[in-house]
Amino acid sequence: MAWTTALKLVALLLAGQDVAAQVPANKGSDFLRFACSQLVIERADPLVNPGMAPTPHMHQIVGGDSFNITMDPETIDPPKTSKCTSCKMVEDFSNYWTASIYFQSPENGTFKRIPQMANGRLNGTAMEQEGGITVYYMRPFSGTNKKTTVFKPGFRMLTGDPTYRTKQSGALVNCHRCLAANERVMGGNGAPCDANDTPYFPNKPCPGGIRVTVIFPSCWDGKSLDSPDHKSHVAYQSGGNLAGDKCPSTHPVRIPQVMYEVMYDTSQFADPKYYKNGKQPLVYSFGDPTGYGAHGDYLFGWEGDSLQRAMDSLNTNCWSEYCPELKLQSWEAANSCTKSQMAKEDIGTDTWLTELPGGAKVA
Ligand SMILES: *[C@@H]1O[C@H](CO)[C@@H](O)[C@H](O)[C@H]1NC(C)=O
Ligand SMILES: *[C@@H]1O[C@H](CO)[C@@H](O)[C@H](O)[C@H]1NC(C)=O
Ligand SMILES: *[C@@H]1O[C@H](CO)[C@@H](O)[C@H](O)[C@H]1NC(C)=O
Repeated sequence: MAWTTALKLVALLLAGQDVAAQVPANKGSDFLRFACSQLVIERADPLVNPGMAPTPHMHQIVGGDSFNITMDPETIDPPKTSKCTSCKMVEDFSNYWTASIYFQSPENGTFKRIPQMANGRLNGTAMEQEGGITVYYMRPFSGTNKKTTVFKPGFRMLTGDPTYRTKQSGALVNCHRCLAANERVMGGNGAPCDANDTPYFPNKPCPGGIRVTVIFPSCWDGKSLDSPDHKSHVAYQSGGNLAGDKCPSTHPVRIPQVMYEVMYDTSQFADPKYYKNGKQPLVYSFGDPTGYGAHGDYLFGWEGDSLQRAMDSLNTNCWSEYCPELKLQSWEAANSCTKSQMAKEDIGTDTWLTELPGGAKVA
């Protein structure tokens, strides 16, 4: 995102400086932002399909390595159960996951996974290995009441729906940004899910990659750690995708607004011949050729009151990755936190698959 503070950060990154060491307090912004490298790409989803291995579709998962097919809050406490986290924030053992995207050859119908890449805006400090997710925790950018109440242990939520194939009403919260080759590093300008982003897959080649943004709700019912659809215990503030300082009476507790940026490297699939007559060749791992089914999953796992302290210090003492309230680990340490697939299979990185892993039909 191209907010002023982000530009200042980038300037420092380009100048090759160590951000945490150089940036003084009071740089003023209302979000934490940090990267998490890839734990694993596999078919697992302890939120929607607990206990199932493998689940119907492929995800990239990042965060604490206690990630498992079941994440029962009674038995798994991520800060205690994890041995490491793939996130730069060492106290964050949460899990964050989104679906993989495949290229389906218009020539012969076979599938190859679109590689993921590090977010160029954080490249100066970002993970060196493939993929990962950039995570934001935001509080209201406007208004006077900026207090947020962080999640309780066991909290989880979902945004988006893999069954959607058409535009949904309301503000855009799961979106795609088609990057030109010269935008590959910086990820394009503008606010998240603005008029440059689409709920559907871009219908033109994206030589600089596709940045998928996932924006979670910012209001909570104050009681439930989860709900049957994993959504109804939380709500968006009406009238916009990014939080203001109001919440509906049904969901009165303002929580940090979680947002992901996920980078997909479409550069080797950007031949204009794949984009003719309104067609495009990308398909989500659950068989969605439209992109409307984009979604994201969140499972809270910060240690103690670390996240609350950081949120309370935003703007004055903490912003982006710079936050004396929180401990940072090195990229090497974050990158070395990985997991092997629980149900081993070819995810289609180097081979052409005759069907999507799990067998979802494209429809
Ligand atoms: C997943 O949970 C099972 C059951 O508690 C445990 O035996 C296993 O070691 C866990 N797997 C991983 C990869 O953490
Ligand atoms: C299918 O098409 C892709 C390109 O679209 C090509 O690279 C691949 O080799 C083809 N596979 C077969 C079995 O023909
Ligand atoms: C990002 O970092 C990697 C590893 O240091 C480097 O090879 C690559 O050129 C960098 N990319 C950009 C766009 O600066």
